[in-house]
Amino acid sequence: MQVICGVSDSLLFSKIISTGSYLPQKILTNDDLSKFVDTSDEWIRTRSGICSRHIAADGEATSDLAVAAATQALQAAGLNASDIDLLIVATTTPDVIFPSTACIVQDKLGANNAAAFDIQAVCSGFVYALSVADKMVASGAHKNALVIGAEIYSRILNWKDRTTCVLFGDGAGAVVLTQSATPGILATKLHADGSRRNILNVPGHVRNGVVYGDPHVHMDGPAVFKMAVKVMADVCNETLAMANMTAADIDWLVPHQANVRIIDATGKRLGVPAEKTIVTVQGQGNTSAASIPLALDTAVRDGRIKSGDVVQTVAVGGGFTWGSALIRW
Ligand code: UT7
Repeated sequence: MQVICGVSDSLLFSKIISTGSYLPQKILTNDDLSKFVDTSDEWIRTRSGICSRHIAADGEATSDLAVAAATQALQAAGLNASDIDLLIVATTTPDVIFPSTACIVQDKLGANNAAAFDIQAVCSGFVYALSVADKMVASGAHKNALVIGAEIYSRILNWKDRTTCVLFGDGAGAVVLTQSATPGILATKLHADGSRRNILNVPGHVRNGVVYGDPHVHMDGPAVFKMAVKVMADVCNETLAMANMTAADIDWLVPHQANVRIIDATGKRLGVPAEKTIVTVQGQGNTSAASIPLALDTAVRDGRIKSGDVVQTVAVGGGFTWGSALIRW
């Protein structure tokens, strides 16, 4: 094997070697919610499948959640923070406008050798970040990447709006991606349709120190639902075709965790049975960019996802954005 400028001339791939996650301690149940907003446990469970969600403490920042998840992933990989040379945080709820949450995480972790930046693709953020990291690692430019999805949605929810506040939660998940001689990330496909940006957004913005517009989540739930069900199975089929596979090859479907009805409909359209689908939304709500790495970590730690398995991840979110990553574990 010839090595030129640190880059091997043989084919290089990227592979996920570990996962980690973190959920804040405080749990908010549906019954807790029904004490201050006009809703019920029965409505939330039957419409979304959600029973409870975690809420960050006042002193916790998105970067703190990210660091906790990343620390677990590093431990599981047997790597030190200084071994990481690429750090991407997918988040819609950054600590501050700038610097990026990734730069804050880099400092808190001591990942001093890492290039660091955020990706903003709302609930599709982790799949976007994984796709970008895959290309950067497989090119030979970076060796060990930390890809994190971290969110504190509880700070951008209007707690009087029952159409949104019952659906979301806080948390973080992380994976370590490293160079590999055999393919780990088999295929990724990303999409966006900015013309549909108004069905899910936070319209408020800061100008000259003043917040203009509402800085809370707005969502046309039924429109998002319809769009999600259509595009999620389609983009899974795109990545399967890229890898010359079919749905029958999938060991585990790990979809974005927004609503069990969307997850069920995606599995049915794709032809993946419920027993091969990882579902964590019941205890976490929709944690946006954190939902897929949180679900991956759950299924790796409880022994469902094993080395060699084919794992199909798929997400959809504000923007509108959607995408899928097909992974050989
Ligand atoms: O991460 C990607 C972003 N998010 C999503 O993927 C979410 C996509 N959308 C959804 O999951 C579903 O559309 C929801 C769970 C948000 C809503 O379910 P739905 O079956 O589409 O209900 P709906 O919005 O059509 O509302 C049905 C009724 C309405 O009352 P009327 O007009 O029929 O009298 C709502 O006002 O339910 C009412 N409603 C509620 N009732 C009790 C809406 N929110 C609540 C609530 N509690 N929290």
